[in-house]
Amino acid sequence: MGFRTIIEPFRIHSVEPLRVTTVDDRRQAVVRAGFNLFNLHADDVLIDLLTDSGTGAMSSDQWAGIQRGDESYAGSPSWFRFLASVQELFPFEHVIPTHQGRAAEKILFSVIGGPGKVIPNNTHFDTTRANVEASGAEAIDLVISEGLDPAALHPFKGNIDTQRLEQLLRSGADVPVVFMTITNNSGGGQPVSLANLREVRALCDRYEVPFFLDACRFAENAWFIRQRQPGYEERAVPDIVREIASLADGMTMSAKKDGLANIGGWLAMNDADLAERCRNLLILTEGFPTYGGLAGRDLEAIAQGLREVVDHEYLRYRIRSTAYLGDALLQAGVPVVRPIGGHAVYIDARSLLPHIAPLHYPGQALAVALYQEGGIRSCEIGTVMFGRRPDGSEHPAPLDLVRLAIPRRTYTQSHIDYVIEVCAEVAGHAADLVGYRIVEEPKTLRHFTARFEPLSS
Ligand code: F0G
Repeated sequence: MGFRTIIEPFRIHSVEPLRVTTVDDRRQAVVRAGFNLFNLHADDVLIDLLTDSGTGAMSSDQWAGIQRGDESYAGSPSWFRFLASVQELFPFEHVIPTHQGRAAEKILFSVIGGPGKVIPNNTHFDTTRANVEASGAEAIDLVISEGLDPAALHPFKGNIDTQRLEQLLRSGADVPVVFMTITNNSGGGQPVSLANLREVRALCDRYEVPFFLDACRFAENAWFIRQRQPGYEERAVPDIVREIASLADGMTMSAKKDGLANIGGWLAMNDADLAERCRNLLILTEGFPTYGGLAGRDLEAIAQGLREVVDHEYLRYRIRSTAYLGDALLQAGVPVVRPIGGHAVYIDARSLLPHIAPLHYPGQALAVALYQEGGIRSCEIGTVMFGRRPDGSEHPAPLDLVRLAIPRRTYTQSHIDYVIEVCAEVAGHAADLVGYRIVEEPKTLRHFTARFEPLSS
């Protein structure tokens, strides 16, 4: 009662040893990896903050569900438990399981995208943008201006700019769907307010356009609403989630985030015709509609994960532990996106490394340094990820960030204290870091496989 410390609301039941490496080991490893942290062997990484996707720890109840998984090809009881659990929070009529979020995106945009179409979002995540563009459609980001300013203090920096959205809808552009990403991952893990979602709903009604959620981190978004939206302090998170869902016509989901699972996702909607077209594609690439790309045991892990992720004790710990890292970095003078997001802390590499031009990738320079010095793997979210346009030209991304994504229920506070120390140390000699150039890159999603070379100082 009344104690200040918010503890991890679980204890450790099974441990994975970490392999401790030296700075020299890591210098060699990162050269072999072409200075791209995606190319590292994960056992050369000490603290892996590359992503919060599929990297969390499952609970004993989820592992029990794995054991109970029923692998019937069609109509498995595990499917019905999954369906009930999804619809408890998102009561859409049609739920289409997929092996992960991008499979849901690929199916949806193959059906409703295509040349000449424009798809607005607060900020498309990389795979979402890539799937929109692969269909021939144009992906545009309409997050509010505060959402692009790392220092702007706005409680809902993930909100979409409804004026610009209305302009687009009024312009006669062919918009098959309006998307909202909750929380806004590429914009700093920032939440979207219910008021903003309601406004988008009203615009979609007025212009008769369907409204979909990219709901990967829905529970974190709902917790922020509970904390920040007057009148919601006493509301239960599952209720807030249902209210969010009631405003939309459908969703894409990666269960690797707020499904607390290691794999999985789904596509859901109310429109029966659209669902049929999506299911036909599902069968081509993912599987029968009662398992999608998943094993029965995966469906069980997600069904249980969805019950645990809306638990208030879990969410209080989750959001507080991310803020703990962000607050400490701020105190150490490391510029981070504020307010601190839900699943990650985003270091503003462009402002920490003003001597490195955006086209020399300050985010990449910082990410490599954090790895070399402390074995921490982070992820550049900036010009490497978003700088190459479909027409082949290269431009600085709006921001150059380095994301420290926190896997769910995985690292303890002393791991995070170590991360804080390493970041402060690297920031202390930021002026010594040099930029990079790309020596090899694929045509799309280059950040996953590009190879780099440091520029000489
Ligand atoms: N939408 C958002 C907002 C995401 O963050 C992701 C994945 C996806 C869609 C795609 O889901 O990975 O299951 O195919 N984000 C991960 C990340 C990869 O590191 O942020 P997926």
